[in-house]
Amino acid sequence: MPSGQLSPTTAELYARHVIPTYARFPLALARGRGTRVWDEEGREYLDFTSGIAVNALGHAHPALRDAIAAQAGELVHTSNLFLTRPQALLAARLGKMTGAHGKVFLCNSGAEANEGLYKLARKNGTPRGRCEIITLDGSFHGRTLGSIAATGQIKVKLGFGPPVDGFLNVPARLECVAQAVGPRTAAIMVEPIQGEGGVRPLSADFLRALRTLCDEQGILLFYDEVQCGLGRTGDWCGWHATGAKDAVPDAISWAKGIAGGFPLGGFWVREPFADLLGPGTHGTTYGGSPLACAAANAVFDTIEKEDLLTNARERGEQLRAAVGKLPLIREVRGAGLLLGAEVEDFAPNQGEEGTPALRLTKRLISAGLLVVPAGDNTIRLLPPLNVTAAECDEAVEILGRVLADCRS
Ligand SMILES: Cc1ncc(COP(=O)(O)O)c(C=O)c1O
Repeated sequence: MPSGQLSPTTAELYARHVIPTYARFPLALARGRGTRVWDEEGREYLDFTSGIAVNALGHAHPALRDAIAAQAGELVHTSNLFLTRPQALLAARLGKMTGAHGKVFLCNSGAEANEGLYKLARKNGTPRGRCEIITLDGSFHGRTLGSIAATGQIKVKLGFGPPVDGFLNVPARLECVAQAVGPRTAAIMVEPIQGEGGVRPLSADFLRALRTLCDEQGILLFYDEVQCGLGRTGDWCGWHATGAKDAVPDAISWAKGIAGGFPLGGFWVREPFADLLGPGTHGTTYGGSPLACAAANAVFDTIEKEDLLTNARERGEQLRAAVGKLPLIREVRGAGLLLGAEVEDFAPNQGEEGTPALRLTKRLISAGLLVVPAGDNTIRLLPPLNVTAAECDEAVEILGRVLADCRS
């Protein structure tokens, strides 16, 4: 840059060089500590997004920082041609969390984990002519071609030509799912708590009925726990929060919070299906690297050591009770620290555009609180699992002030 010329701002560089797949908020974040982040101008925000349910320990947690630094000094990556201790230990503890016998495959993201499940369903079902997967309206399963076919929302599919064959999206009602099951069905896949679709928990009866249906029909039941799994609901297993602890699935996908922000995904497959994807059937170069797995092991050690599952449940109840009393709030849904607050519509200020959830989110950002819109009328509150009671009070105070202003 010649002297005397101002360097472009971060927003200008994005506008010129980054493919505009996201309608990003014009906020350039520079650093974080715990539940707080600061932008490039030094303004402070309370971060109730956790990078969309990812930063389980908040920002810059010393245990995560130290584990990443220590592992980076030993081995960052080896490929899956070899064994590494961090992957072995992580697979063992993930398997234990499910409470059933099975095995784990590690990859890099939620969509990639789900792709593994689609392949598992087809590998199991193809010999019997079964290769279709049933998913629910309102669901979200990722952005690959397979996952946009699986996702039960038109907006993610539009403009990308013929959908990948073999996915049926049906209303989230037992009779609709049962009717859709046929001789070609290989699996049913659901999010026990739909996240992107507006934080909508499935009922315990529905999950149990799906389990029974799958057993009767000889098909597999998959839970996409990319958002609701691994502690976010105050339990390792997201489906426990629905009350149907006994409705154990045949496979589970994970990502997001698994390594506290370091990219990692994975899926678990219950016996007797765990060896179906044998040598040469599936793979990934980066997945389950020693660095990613060391990060994940540090996250789980910290959740256990600091009893963050209890904290997630208690802070979740605190937020649910307080947010439910605020003006314009219709309903608070979800479990633990996966909460969706549905708001009534309110009059836009001059120049304001978008859904009520988006307009409210922008007003909250201006007031110093970061949240995530979900659907048209719901904002998600997704603080880290170690958020304090005082930080929750502060978030509720900001939300209450902004909502009161929306109403006036
Ligand atoms: C339930 C669910 N499944 C899958 C995905 C996709 O995960 P990723 O963005 O890591 O591919 C998401 C992301 O929001 C999700 O919420």
